[in-house]
Amino acid sequence: MQITTNYLSLRAVKYILMQLLHKKQELEKHLAPLVLASKTIGLVPTMGALHEGHASLIQQAFKENECVVVSIFVNPTQFNNTEDLIKYPKTLDKDIAIIKNISQNIIIYAPSVEEIYKDNISAEKYNFNGLDRVMEGAFRLGHFDGVGTIVEELFRSIKPTKAYFGEKDFQQLQIIKKLVVLKNIPVEIIGCPIVREENGLAMSSRNERLSKEMRLSASFIYSTLRTVREKFGTKSALEVTNWVKSEFDKNNEFRLEYFQIAAIETLKPIKRKFKNKQYRAFIAVFADDVRLIDNIAL
Ligand code: PAF
Repeated sequence: MQITTNYLSLRAVKYILMQLLHKKQELEKHLAPLVLASKTIGLVPTMGALHEGHASLIQQAFKENECVVVSIFVNPTQFNNTEDLIKYPKTLDKDIAIIKNISQNIIIYAPSVEEIYKDNISAEKYNFNGLDRVMEGAFRLGHFDGVGTIVEELFRSIKPTKAYFGEKDFQQLQIIKKLVVLKNIPVEIIGCPIVREENGLAMSSRNERLSKEMRLSASFIYSTLRTVREKFGTKSALEVTNWVKSEFDKNNEFRLEYFQIAAIETLKPIKRKFKNKQYRAFIAVFADDVRLIDNIAL
């Protein structure tokens, strides 16, 4: 009897994989046999416009799980700027080709806005204990409520064993770790290292919007962060922050939105350094009208 059940579920698993699904009900129907067969499910949530950074998350998910779901959804509630939402690249066919190149055994979930939000496009209000009030949260009001809303929705419908997020959005990663504790969602959150272009620029879907020249000179952001790491060995956070500001004052191509050195658990700016604490430097920069973020472990 046991053998028959396993055999059936294995057959079902084979049939299920490599699917492009747009409806939540279809998704849940396809995932049910996997859950029944206790398969481990890795989830890589994305907003599409996939690049090598996403590819590395998908590859890691494949190494650590029996099946992988990639979600592609440009989530309106996490954009505080309508123009940014309109300009966000939407490249589903290209994304599917990239994913299929990594593996044919995969579920792609690409719902519509109506499918996720019905007729109420709004975000839940979360209490992330202040993690959402600094940096990205301070400059993009409501952003993390939007992120929390869609990520919670994906966790509830997909029930992944592990979910993968890039450290480029380090604040988001910390907030999602907080979300699963807050909402008691049984999923392991895996943070993956930042993937960079050859010149050091952190991979981002927004890089596509940079001119060729800008994309090359944007190496300035990472080279500044590398010097920050060096300087932080001997100088205070304030001294390093002032140095970064002066570097950007001298630079005509990039406008600094914020630079902050923070402890990784609180994400609050630091006044003093402690030996046993882990710190990171965070930066947000405008290159023309394209907003780029990056960070580095110190
Ligand atoms: O990091 C992103 O691409 C998005 O914020 C996420 C996690 C897919 C939620 O929309």
